Amino acid sequence: MSVERVGAGNKHVASVNPWSVDEKLALLSCYIGTQHGQGGFLKATRQAPARYYIDLFAGPGQNQVKGTDQIVDGSPLIALKAGPPRFSHLYWVEAKRRSAASLEAHQREYPDRGITILLGNANERVDDVLRTLPRKAPTFAFLDPYASELDWQTVVKLARHKAHGFPKIELFILFAVDTAYLRLMPRASWKMRYQAVLDRVMPDPEGWRRLYDRRAAGGYKPQEIRRAMLDEYVAGLRSLGYKWVPAPRLIFRSDGHPLYFLIFASDHKAGNDIMEWYLKHVQQSRRQPSLLNYADQY
Ligand SMILES: C[S@@+](CC[C@H](N)C(=O)[O-])C[C@H]1O[C@@H](n2cnc3c(N)ncnc32)[C@H](O)[C@@H]1O
Repeated sequence: MSVERVGAGNKHVASVNPWSVDEKLALLSCYIGTQHGQGGFLKATRQAPARYYIDLFAGPGQNQVKGTDQIVDGSPLIALKAGPPRFSHLYWVEAKRRSAASLEAHQREYPDRGITILLGNANERVDDVLRTLPRKAPTFAFLDPYASELDWQTVVKLARHKAHGFPKIELFILFAVDTAYLRLMPRASWKMRYQAVLDRVMPDPEGWRRLYDRRAAGGYKPQEIRRAMLDEYVAGLRSLGYKWVPAPRLIFRSDGHPLYFLIFASDHKAGNDIMEWYLKHVQQSRRQPSLLNYADQY
């Protein structure tokens, strides 16, 4: 994703691939509830006195779809404009100074909205978010790294931030299985140099090593290791107490090459049912549709 100047103030756009818009951002948008009031998280939490949004990898606010002149809102602006009801407060975390400045330029256009912008590493700034985030309010967190930037401990901190008897923060996570993790697992084990990264991003240091050793012993076909890594991650989410994790969606490049999973985790059956429906039905309009049921595609 490269960042380029678009002219107005400090705003910038990132350049993104079409599947990010058609699937990842479409799913976010449908689930939180921007499709003419349908959905989703905001509608389901309308009785609550307040509801919160966390975006730990926020980007500059808007994106230009590669190969087109189409400019679309990125996740922070999708969440900002979603509703009614609106998010009561939004936390936007971004590591690049230029993108954070762009977020501030967008924020200036919404002086009456509660927005906290934090510059820095999401895995550190999450502590600052959680310091002020109420423990009883419904909260949705979008965790959208490029690759291996999301530490498992950050997921743990979000999962644990709740008062007794109240639901956990809902998570929507980009799990970078082909874009990062499988690339960090060379077939020849003597070439392996990424143990520390995998230990940091995966739930269980023993777990991914078991899968890696099994693959080295010829125990997996290519698609099976992808699925095994996903199962390992989902087991981690369940061990944190998430009751509902619908079948994640595997996102493909336009030529059919697999890229990453989108994983949703919730304490709410209603949230699960809504997102499960969207995970099955949001279409990638620019790719040949698969004849397989989405859960059978990987
Ligand atoms: C995939 S993009 C996010 C796109 C955004 N969600 C959207 O919809 O436009 C990942 C973003 O995370 C930022 N980033 C990368 N590593 C980070 C880190 N450790 N902490 C916070 N932000 C990070 C990048 O600068 C980039 O803007």
